[in-house]
Amino acid sequence: MVELIVSKRDGLELSADAIRWIIREYTADRIPDYQMSALLMAILLNGLTDEELAPWTEAMLHSGETLDLSDVSKPKIDKHSTGGVGDKISIPLAPIVAACGVAVPMISGRALGHTGGTLDKLESIPGFSVMVDPEEFKDQLDTVGVVMAGQTETLVPADRRMYGLRDATGTVPSIPLIASSVMSKKLAEDLDGLVLDVKVGSGAFMRSLEDATTLAETMVEIGRAAGTPTVAILTRMDQPLGAMVGNANEIAESIDVLKGGGPDDVAQLVETLAVAMLKRVGQSTDEATHSVRKAVASGAALDVFAELVKVQGGDPGIIDNPNLLPHAPREYVLKARRDGWVTRCDARVIGNAAVRLRAGRATKEDAIDPSVGFEILAKVGQRVTEGHPLARVAFESETVLERALQGLSGAWTISDDEPEPTDVILGVVE
Ligand code: URA
Repeated sequence: MVELIVSKRDGLELSADAIRWIIREYTADRIPDYQMSALLMAILLNGLTDEELAPWTEAMLHSGETLDLSDVSKPKIDKHSTGGVGDKISIPLAPIVAACGVAVPMISGRALGHTGGTLDKLESIPGFSVMVDPEEFKDQLDTVGVVMAGQTETLVPADRRMYGLRDATGTVPSIPLIASSVMSKKLAEDLDGLVLDVKVGSGAFMRSLEDATTLAETMVEIGRAAGTPTVAILTRMDQPLGAMVGNANEIAESIDVLKGGGPDDVAQLVETLAVAMLKRVGQSTDEATHSVRKAVASGAALDVFAELVKVQGGDPGIIDNPNLLPHAPREYVLKARRDGWVTRCDARVIGNAAVRLRAGRATKEDAIDPSVGFEILAKVGQRVTEGHPLARVAFESETVLERALQGLSGAWTISDDEPEPTDVILGVVE
């Protein structure tokens, strides 16, 4: 292992055999974390060539079991986001696409770093379980059309171990490491097509459009080579998506979207990604847009969500009565210190403050408080006067609130000049 670390450190290429050996031995606990960390840092600094990335991804994919969903009669399409703040898109998206007749076997992640996690948000629904065993997984895909679950012990164990290590060693924002991590998990789902939401901006792992485009192209190429048609949509993550940042509050906002309401940026991104998913099964843009709007307007998508919640042990009563979701008892309102236009509402600063509020997780072992969170009340392009509310904080204890507020007001810039309007969707790579 030392020789391999030194080779990578010095910019040499690792052989496919060496890569397969590294992934196998690391998964079997025969390479210690400190050596793997050193290798990951060398990869972050020097990259992986295409000739290295292919066997690296392949070895991760086969580090454990893969799903066999060949018995599922409907086409199987999933979506994966590279991670953001207020990114609750999967929660309304998966039931909408299932209501349009496509099976969505969605395996999601937890909050890590400043980004939130779909599994933590779903677990804020009383009773909801994200552990679905492989047999139930198939049945539920046939009957409900959607499963929203966590990675099992046996699915891509190399990524489970490596992701935690990367999070603790500053080695997450590497294009080949993100590409292989995302694609090994998605290829293990036995999909007919995949849509990637590649985030760009302050709250994303890729801060520049150039890096995000390279990441998107890399993942689309891995999908193509594996026979899983993949499209990547590049989307803006400079400010949180929607108004809610937290867990239970993001579920409530997702239900609003399923009811045909919710914030415009969330509704627009959900529709764009749903259309992209339906295009994977051969629908035209017009057909797909029509199906998606009908699924929401008719209530069919909301019915699928209710069924999903029920089958996975949750209380579907939350749909009509959001008070059944946990809600922290106390509120604090952060206010603008001057008049002007909001020109910045920084997703990373808000995401980090959410971690300090205990809506997110600083280490893998941290427990999340599902009831706390922010409601963002002023976003980029909004005109505010001094004293205008910028964010409402739902909190449990004064100490935690104080910690969360440190730096939070620095998330906003209020200027004299009105900013140019921006779009959430920045491009498509296919
Ligand atoms: N999401 C993943 O699944 N893996 C990464 O490395 C980054 C985001």
